[in-house]
Amino acid sequence: MAPAYKPPTADEKEQYVRALFDRIAENYDAVNQVMSAGQWQKWHKEFVQCTNHKPGDRVLDVACGTGDLSMLAAAQVQPGGSVVGIDFSEGMLEVGRRRVAQTPYRDMITLQWGNAMDIQFADNSFDGASMGWAMRNVKEIPKTLSEIYRVLKPGARFVCLEAAKPYSSLVRLGFFLYWKTFLPLIDWWVMKSGRQAVVRPYTYLSRSLDSYPMPDKLETMFQQAGFRDTGYKLLMMGTVAIHYGTK
Ligand SMILES: C[S@@+](CC[C@H](N)C(=O)[O-])C[C@H]1O[C@@H](n2cnc3c(N)ncnc32)[C@H](O)[C@@H]1O
Repeated sequence: MAPAYKPPTADEKEQYVRALFDRIAENYDAVNQVMSAGQWQKWHKEFVQCTNHKPGDRVLDVACGTGDLSMLAAAQVQPGGSVVGIDFSEGMLEVGRRRVAQTPYRDMITLQWGNAMDIQFADNSFDGASMGWAMRNVKEIPKTLSEIYRVLKPGARFVCLEAAKPYSSLVRLGFFLYWKTFLPLIDWWVMKSGRQAVVRPYTYLSRSLDSYPMPDKLETMFQQAGFRDTGYKLLMMGTVAIHYGTK
């Protein structure tokens, strides 16, 4: 019988999340398409409309993973612009580099190792920043937001796409049934088929929203980090949120 799932403590979280994404990197993009019921591209289209990248801009994609948002930003900042994606999972970066190499944006995008909570760039370095599906994975949201704020130029915008806890109790019930039963089944299947499950990626993902702030609270955290003109847009009955703010 499989041992009970034990969520990582705050101190274990970074190492756990990194190992988790290293492990699922090769299947990450395909699984997303299935898990999002084909909505992935639609959400990204909405996300792009909330950004205001312009040709020539230099954009930072925080926790870039396999580079989806980096490639979207590259399309917006050409000609003359560039995108730097940072992530702390070498496995995700490796898949991302292979994907980017097959696109016309290969010379505009650099994907490199970096931690969202300690960004290795100077103050006021970027004309815009994005973060997709990663805010709920960082150890400390306020520290991450203040780092992103620091490296943006005055007037630059940060846009964050992430899953959200819906306000409607009815939607919340349906959402949590899916989130808490279907996703852990993937780990159960992996363990049942005899493969190692040192981390349980989909059980972790199903729990990762438990302590994540509601959308209005996250907007307040943006403001506390210094962002102005903040707001958010809810999609998919409030189960996905796009937050934005300007330095
Ligand atoms: C669900 S994936 C999202 C990847 C990508 N942004 C996308 O839109 O598909 C979350 C990513 O966040 C990265 N991550 C989580 N915490 C991080 C941190 N503190 N610093 C850098 N990367 C982090 C993980 O390694 C993983 O690649």
